[in-house]
Amino acid sequence: MSGVAVIGAGYVGLTTATCLAHLGHTVICADIDEKKVDALNKGEVPIHETRLPELLRDGLSQQTLKFVVGARQAVTDSEFVFLCLPTPQSDDGRADISAISQVIEEIREIIPAGSTIVNKSTTPVGTNAAIQSLVRRGDVAVVSNPEFLREGVAVTDFLQPDRIVIGSTDPEAAQKVSGLYNAVDAPIITVDPLSAETIKYATNSFLATKVSFVNALAAVCEAVGADIESVIRGLGADQRIGSRFLQPGPGWGGSCFPKDMQALVRMADDAGYQFDLLRAVIEANEQQFARVVSKVERLVGDKLGGAKISLLGLTFKAHTDDLRNSPALEVAKLLSSEGARLIAYDPMVESNSGLPTEIELAQNIEQALTGSDAVVILTEWPEFTRANWGALRDFMNAPRVLDARNALDRRAMLDLGFQYDDLGRI
Ligand code: UDX
Repeated sequence: MSGVAVIGAGYVGLTTATCLAHLGHTVICADIDEKKVDALNKGEVPIHETRLPELLRDGLSQQTLKFVVGARQAVTDSEFVFLCLPTPQSDDGRADISAISQVIEEIREIIPAGSTIVNKSTTPVGTNAAIQSLVRRGDVAVVSNPEFLREGVAVTDFLQPDRIVIGSTDPEAAQKVSGLYNAVDAPIITVDPLSAETIKYATNSFLATKVSFVNALAAVCEAVGADIESVIRGLGADQRIGSRFLQPGPGWGGSCFPKDMQALVRMADDAGYQFDLLRAVIEANEQQFARVVSKVERLVGDKLGGAKISLLGLTFKAHTDDLRNSPALEVAKLLSSEGARLIAYDPMVESNSGLPTEIELAQNIEQALTGSDAVVILTEWPEFTRANWGALRDFMNAPRVLDARNALDRRAMLDLGFQYDDLGRI
């Protein structure tokens, strides 16, 4: 088994380090945050990822995994150096790879001859070549190995992926990197670096297109009187389309889709192609936030000003605690700008710290619904689906529900006497 350094202990780096250790490699994971490194060496996981705590503790107890402060402490005995660094969106929409450049500058002289730098961060097409020119060492290969990890299920996505993509101009280096995944049962797709980097953006932008499409389709269903769930059953049965990732919602968000879409549009522009189709997907997503708000407005008889609106769900999707670019916060902003008073409950959000000041935080569903003029379901937490809505109705000032995740049983809610709306169902 191999000696592996993983630089960055965020969502991607921490999952990569623990899973590579689980696969039998000896891993040193480096981060600049000393507190985070100390906590990780004690087995404390700062993010919400199923199975990650167990894998972390296994790696620590078997001494196949440890955490250090700073990249230079991790690379001197490693055959592989994984880059799992943040590539945030710059003001102009382009991906900012300064964290990668900084780490390369820090380690380029001390990484062992014959080692391989493996870039797992989502980086603009062409970054592999840029890293090569920063490393400036003929005895160190640079390979792209993009990640396809969904938050909340990242361990499963790492250990049971649909495929492993490796981008390299050096067949031997590609072979060595694919060897790291020998214990993973998945096809390995080895291509040139530019194509590997493009596959990552292609995947996320196609997935975002599916979601924007199904949200627009739900609006069409409402207009023509069709039922979106029936339409999805027929649509998804087509093997060329598939039924996954066709769940209507308030729009897509998170730490990846929004930034990756902007980055791809900018990359295409810079390369001389106007990616209008992807611009339309982004625009459709913005429109979805506004569509949710206009539905709430209709529910309260066009009197949003001063209305008390309850938000159930703040995270960008269920089974994560991540608020980054959450559609729920986009909807909240629009509701607040219309004069609504907002109170919210999310099982994974305990403090207002990451929230806009206009959102009051409740500790449970009942508190959130007390005196409410309407409630909007924005994240598909099971707690909301399982709730006793017959009892909850009596907490509200008026029994009005906008189910922006199609999470509840429409017929049951209508039978309970709710004024109920959702996305495209009859
Ligand atoms: C995504 C990609 O799935 C992953 O491969 C990539 O590596 C990182 O970005 P993630 O950001 O965790 O993962 O979110 P994902 O589960 O893909 O959902 C993205 C957004 O689309 C969420 O806001 C989610 O609520 C929304 N969504 C997803 C829908 O509205 N409907 C769906 O059917 C699926």
